[in-house]
Amino acid sequence: MKVSLTTDAPTKIKADLLAIGVRAGQLGKDTVFKQLDKATDGALAAAAKREDFTGKTGESLRVTVSGLGAPVVLVLGLGDGERKERDVRSIAVKAAQAASRYHHVALVLPEDVPDEERAVRVATEGLITGSYKYTRYLTGDRLPKRRTETAKIAVAKSAAGAKDALRRGTALGETINFVRDLVNAPPNDLTPTALAEAARAQSEAHGLSCKVWDKKGIEKLGMNLFLAVNRGSAEEPRLVHMAWKPAGAKKGAKKIVFVGKGLTFDSGGLCIKPPKSMVDMKCDMAGAAVTIGVLVACARLGLPVEVHGFIGATENMTGPAAYRPGDVFSSLDGKTVEIINTDAEGRLVLADVLTYAAREIEPDYLIDHATLTGACMVALGPWRAGLFANDDELASRYQKAADAEGETFWRMPLDEELRELLKSDIADMKHVGEQYGGSITAALFLREFIGQSKWMHLDIAGPAFLDRPHGTAPKGGTGFGVTTAVRFLEALGESA
Ligand code: BES
Ligand code: MN
Ligand code: ZN
Repeated sequence: MKVSLTTDAPTKIKADLLAIGVRAGQLGKDTVFKQLDKATDGALAAAAKREDFTGKTGESLRVTVSGLGAPVVLVLGLGDGERKERDVRSIAVKAAQAASRYHHVALVLPEDVPDEERAVRVATEGLITGSYKYTRYLTGDRLPKRRTETAKIAVAKSAAGAKDALRRGTALGETINFVRDLVNAPPNDLTPTALAEAARAQSEAHGLSCKVWDKKGIEKLGMNLFLAVNRGSAEEPRLVHMAWKPAGAKKGAKKIVFVGKGLTFDSGGLCIKPPKSMVDMKCDMAGAAVTIGVLVACARLGLPVEVHGFIGATENMTGPAAYRPGDVFSSLDGKTVEIINTDAEGRLVLADVLTYAAREIEPDYLIDHATLTGACMVALGPWRAGLFANDDELASRYQKAADAEGETFWRMPLDEELRELLKSDIADMKHVGEQYGGSITAALFLREFIGQSKWMHLDIAGPAFLDRPHGTAPKGGTGFGVTTAVRFLEALGESA
């Protein structure tokens, strides 16, 4: 979908569908609604009355009209909340979803947005992500017949700032959709090798540096925990390092490292998952997908911060060489780890990759995204991510960014008391604690491998992949985490 700006009056905009947002209880006062209503001889107000539309969040009204440049008007309720950007995103997403069978759609921004440029960016992102559909494996009749080709956003004046916002919103929307494509890709096609190739191709396309290690290379580095997980798989593992180094970065500018869990499939290994838990485990590389997305966004937006992305990609399978409960392996940083449950594989991969990233880059902040534990979903539900941090300032900066973007995280405790659950009789530590507090003991395990870093672990097991649409997120891969990370990095760049 191609998004552009228009300064035409809402009554004149040519499109197959025109979408507008109206605040709760503001029907009579909203000037755009009034203009459109007047031009259609009161058709909108009559329809609103008939359908009891008052502008509450989630309400929508689709009216066929004459007298406008568009034959159909979609009126979306904005609710009476604060005038947040995320309201703009949500009506843009809804407009794009509702318009999936029209070629050309148009969106009029709410009148009361505090910052029109920001609104253009968010609306563009919303239109592009709202029209997302994973169609890669559909054939014949299953392919959507009509798709929205263009979307126009009505603005007061199309100044340079608005055009830049359009460009940035497009970059972000396309990046999020790309992350979703990676997460939705079937695991027989998106192998660790293919995931690394995708990272390389994106890096080449957008001017990032990219280094990939194959199995031999990972062996040479000494990542024995990562390799243990790979043992049962017929597919080679891959370690990927992408980097964005902006030209002319200021001296003393911050260096941020993102690390992503890249399990292209998690069968559980010998501690095999039951079918119901296994069926969606292609999503276990979502942390890696977000990491690639963040790096791509940095390059496409030209962010003034140095950002690195590391991905540990492998499958967790049950082949004859599979690692076993009871095995002991020595990590990259020399700690011995007793394997308890082969389904707790993500933390093993991350441990070695975190060690390597912390050592090589010595970042100001080390941040990992991982679909790490079902326990995190038990604690926080399916839509909220767990946030663990050993640095309060990092955590609060991140939560501020998340709040502005409308993504939900919850700070979880790194309870020192639970540390004793990771004690092993025969090795330096076990990698799994008990059932209770499972997401916390997982985070405590990771913390052993971060050196002196200021670090944050984001457990996205819930929101990375949904079994039904929620809010502005589609079913399946969501791209959760990208917008918050970008917002956080932008704020860091501004404060530098
Ligand atoms: N990849 C899973 C976690 C997961 C669960 C992600 C549901 C997305 C949705 C992870 O590797 C796993 O299996 N964790 C185990 C840990 C346990 C064995 C200590 C879990 O959560 O059950
Ligand atoms: Mn697992
Ligand atoms: Zn996993």
